[in-house]
Amino acid sequence: MTGLARSPLTARRAGPLNGRLRVPGDKSISHRALIFGALAVGETRISGLLEGEDVLNTGKAMRALGAKVRRTGEGAWSVHGVGVGGFRAPGEVLDFGNSGTGCRLVLGAVAGCPISATFDGDASLRRRPMQRILDPLALMGAKAFDAAAGGRLPITLTGARDPLPILYRTPVPSAQIKSAVLLAGLAAPGATTVIETEASRDHTERLLAHFGADLMVVPEGPHGRKITLTGQPELHPAQIVVPADPSSAAFPMVAALIVPGSDLIVTEVMTNPLRTGLITTLGEMGAHIDIVETRDAGEAMADFRVRAGELHGVDVPAARAPSMIDEYPILAVAAAFARGSTVMRGLKELRVKESDRLTAVADGLAANGVAVEIDGDDLIVHGTGSVTGGGMVATQMDHRIAMAFLMMGLASTQPVAIDDGTFIATSFPGFVPMMRRLGADLT
Ligand code: S3P
Repeated sequence: MTGLARSPLTARRAGPLNGRLRVPGDKSISHRALIFGALAVGETRISGLLEGEDVLNTGKAMRALGAKVRRTGEGAWSVHGVGVGGFRAPGEVLDFGNSGTGCRLVLGAVAGCPISATFDGDASLRRRPMQRILDPLALMGAKAFDAAAGGRLPITLTGARDPLPILYRTPVPSAQIKSAVLLAGLAAPGATTVIETEASRDHTERLLAHFGADLMVVPEGPHGRKITLTGQPELHPAQIVVPADPSSAAFPMVAALIVPGSDLIVTEVMTNPLRTGLITTLGEMGAHIDIVETRDAGEAMADFRVRAGELHGVDVPAARAPSMIDEYPILAVAAAFARGSTVMRGLKELRVKESDRLTAVADGLAANGVAVEIDGDDLIVHGTGSVTGGGMVATQMDHRIAMAFLMMGLASTQPVAIDDGTFIATSFPGFVPMMRRLGADLT
C-alpha cells in the first residue's frame, strides 16, 4: 500500500442502519488456511477466504515459497502444498505489506526449513516488534539478520536444517508468537510445547488438528493453556470454510447500536469463545444483541440481530483483552456514546499493533470532543450518551482506527473525517459500499 495516494473519508449522521449483511471471511483463519495448505501434501480447497490485501500478501508469499496457490472463484482458493519442511528459497523479498500476522506466522514456517528468505513490509509493519518471534525461533536453530537491528523488518531469516523442539512460555499473550513456534515445531522431531498464561485465539491449534497433526491442549493455570505438538507429521490436505470475521462484524454491529432506530442482522459471524470478548462487553453495557441462528462449520458461527439503544459504561477486565484485542478501537467508540465511564484495563499490547492504538484512539476521541484518559496501560472513556464530532482523525496506516472513527461519525452531531481510508482494504474490502447499502452516509 506504500506510495498510494491518501483517500480521506467523512462520515455524517443520517437515518437508521437497516438490513442484513455478511462481512468478509475471518482474517486469522484465512492466513492460516493458506499457510497450512502450503505445508500439506496435496490440494487444500478454501471457501470464503478473505480477499483483503493482508491475506493476498500471504498467498503471494506461499507461492514464492513453492506452493501452487490459485483463485478458483469468489473467495474460493486452491492450494497445492509442498509438505512440512518443503519450502524452496524464494527468488524475491517476501513483502507482507501491513500484516503482522502474515509476516510472523511465515517467519515461523520458514524457520523450520533449510532456506533463507527476506521479510519486509510497509512503514507500519517496519515499526512493529519482531524480536518476540525471533527469540524462540533462534532457540530452535534459525538465524536472523535484521539490517536495522532491534528486531525490526527487513529481516533475512535462515531456517534450521535440523530444527530443535522446544518448550516455550510466551512472554505476552499472543497467538502470533504461539503460532510461529508451532509452525517451526512442525519440522522439528519430537514434542514442541507452548505455554501461555492467558489463552489467545486457537485457530492454529484447531487447523493443525484439522490437517491431521498430533496435538494435545491442556489447561494451564486459571486462564492459560499448554499446547504440545508432535513434530514431523504429514499434513493432509483439507477443506476449509472460513466464517465471517467477528473483528470486521464489530464495526457495523457497534454502528447499529449507536445510530438511533437501527436494526441489523449480521450473519455467519464466528463465535469461537476466544474471539467474542466484544460481544460479552457490549452485552454488559446493555446492548440489544440477540442470536437468531447458530451453525457450525469447523468453527461455531451465529447470525446476530443488533438494535440501537442506550448503553452504559462498564469496567472491562484485563483478562478479557486476548479475546477482544482487535476490538478496543470500536469498543472505545461505543463507550463514547454510553452514559458513564468505561475503563478498559491492560491494553499494553495495543501500543504495538498496526499503530500505537492506545494513543490513536485517545487522540481521535479527544479530537471529537470525548473526554478520555490514558492511565498506564488502561484507557478510560467518559461517555455522556452523545458525541459532538467535528474532528479529523489521523488513522496512522491502521485499518481499525479508520473504520472505528467512521462509525463514530454516523452517530455524532457533527461529521467525523478520517485522513486516509486506503488501509481498510487490508482487512475489509468493500467496507464503504457495504455500509452505504445499510444506510450510512460516507463520502
Ligand atoms: C492474530 C493475533 C493477534 C491479533 C491479530 C491477529 C492472529 O495479534 O491482534 O490481528 O491471527 O494470530 P497478537 O498475537 O500479536 O496478539
